[in-house]
Amino acid sequence: MERNRWYKDKVFYQIWPRSFKDGNNDGMGDLYGVYEKLDYIKSLGCDGIWFSPLYPSPGVDCGYDISNYLDIAEEFGGMEAFKKVLQGAHERGMKVIMDLVVNHTSTEHEWFKKSRQRIEPYTDYYIWRPGKGNKLPNNWDSLFEGKAWKYDEVRKEYYMHLFAIEQADLNMDNPLVREEVKKILKFWLDMGVDGFREDVITFISKKEGLPNDYIMPASKGFFYFNHGPHLHEYLKEFQEDVFSKYDCMTLAEAPMVTPKVALKYIDENKSPVLDMMIQFKTQEADCLFTDFFHVKFNLRKLKRAYSSWQTKLDGKGWNMLYIENHDHPRMVSRYGSEKYRVESAKMLAVSYLFLKGTPFIYQGQEIGMTNWYPEDPSMYEDVQTRWQYNNVATKKSPEKRLQRLWHGSRDSSRTPVQWDNTKHAGFSEHEPWFYVNENYKEINVKDQENDKESVLNFYRKAIKVRKELSVVKDGNYKEYNKSSSKVYTYSREDSKQKLLVICSYYDKATKLNIPKGFDLKTGKLVLSNYDNSSLVLKPYETRVYVWEK
Ligand code: NOJ
Repeated sequence: MERNRWYKDKVFYQIWPRSFKDGNNDGMGDLYGVYEKLDYIKSLGCDGIWFSPLYPSPGVDCGYDISNYLDIAEEFGGMEAFKKVLQGAHERGMKVIMDLVVNHTSTEHEWFKKSRQRIEPYTDYYIWRPGKGNKLPNNWDSLFEGKAWKYDEVRKEYYMHLFAIEQADLNMDNPLVREEVKKILKFWLDMGVDGFREDVITFISKKEGLPNDYIMPASKGFFYFNHGPHLHEYLKEFQEDVFSKYDCMTLAEAPMVTPKVALKYIDENKSPVLDMMIQFKTQEADCLFTDFFHVKFNLRKLKRAYSSWQTKLDGKGWNMLYIENHDHPRMVSRYGSEKYRVESAKMLAVSYLFLKGTPFIYQGQEIGMTNWYPEDPSMYEDVQTRWQYNNVATKKSPEKRLQRLWHGSRDSSRTPVQWDNTKHAGFSEHEPWFYVNENYKEINVKDQENDKESVLNFYRKAIKVRKELSVVKDGNYKEYNKSSSKVYTYSREDSKQKLLVICSYYDKATKLNIPKGFDLKTGKLVLSNYDNSSLVLKPYETRVYVWEK
């Protein structure tokens, strides 16, 4: 089927179901809640939804540990509620993409239960190895907890888990496993789903022989399981056997991917096997490899990342644009400022909404939700966070260790969405499954609906402007004042329009350096977060100017 690449015109909204909206008042977000809020999502200008996993799962990794790929969890309302949401979204002109998590399954999945008992054909569905004497099969690390191997008493062998112990890695080299993946894809696509976000899909092919790693990157084994030898081949197989037969899109999560490597998969001129990739570089301006290794925010690093992806994919591949998702702390608290919350949330919106690519907005980002600062480490829910607390930097004082979590934990983006200023932030009438951020009385959707100057209404306006300006879709990108550590300035230009985007990441006034060739007096200011036309930018000021040719 000829691909029409409809995703290039969309703005997506990401739903992390547990914390979006509880529709049946049992304390857990669900699809009834999503159904209630479809018009809200549409009102933002979003016309696509990415659902983090909705499938049955024991919940060790909040749904990324799947025990049945062909169903919807009862706690979210089951299949009936899903079909209603899917139809409701389509009726509103919104696409729906699911999360495909096939690097691993839950150890509660039937396949794993049978595999550990060597019941055919499941025996080789997972990566099983005997130990080496009393040693593990190799020295690779899990990205979540300890080493990448767990001994199974039933099978008397080790299985690989690159994430939590209860997330066993599938053996994608087994053709039967790839057939299962295709069955899952067809099942959802036939139901009408419009595509997939593919969870750590670049990890599915491990280096042959699973050798010990002596290179010692941040995590041992990383370069042996990321972009492994058969990755392209397997993605091509999924593409040819399934995706090519549907009008759908694929978005691949790709830790540490560079534009050059991404193009091996997404170059539109070279039979792509994926449509877009989720890069991590723009998440690393205040940390080293992981959010837990916090360093001072460095705007130049961020600008380099944006510009490199914008220019290197240009004319070849399509960018996926995001600033937040369920795996990172909130951006206002990181690259922005809690003191200048409203201003910086608006500036951060502009910083990426006018780049070339398909933007994704993560639930709560549109109202400028901030990080969560619990008093006690036991309040954290996330498996990775708990392991970090108990096993890393353990010699530091309890205060320092807790602060590490405040900076690094993804639980900050997983607190319930703040809908209003009533009890439990209007998320539920029941005690929620997870803590509500205490600032819900100041930061919530309802108040912002009634405030013309709110972050929420700014997002609506920014998305509208984005959609009205043809230059945003295809115009050339150029960055200015690259050496500035305070301001990010870029232009977009096509034969009809020229756009100038100015974003100050500085918490004080700073001089506006107008790039050569731009006369602000003749440009139309289409978006700004202050009433200011002077040559001094206010803290976190942003402006977008347009020139019609
Ligand atoms: C990436 C997902 O986004 C994250 O939430 C999850 O924990 C890991 N992959 C493992 O599935």
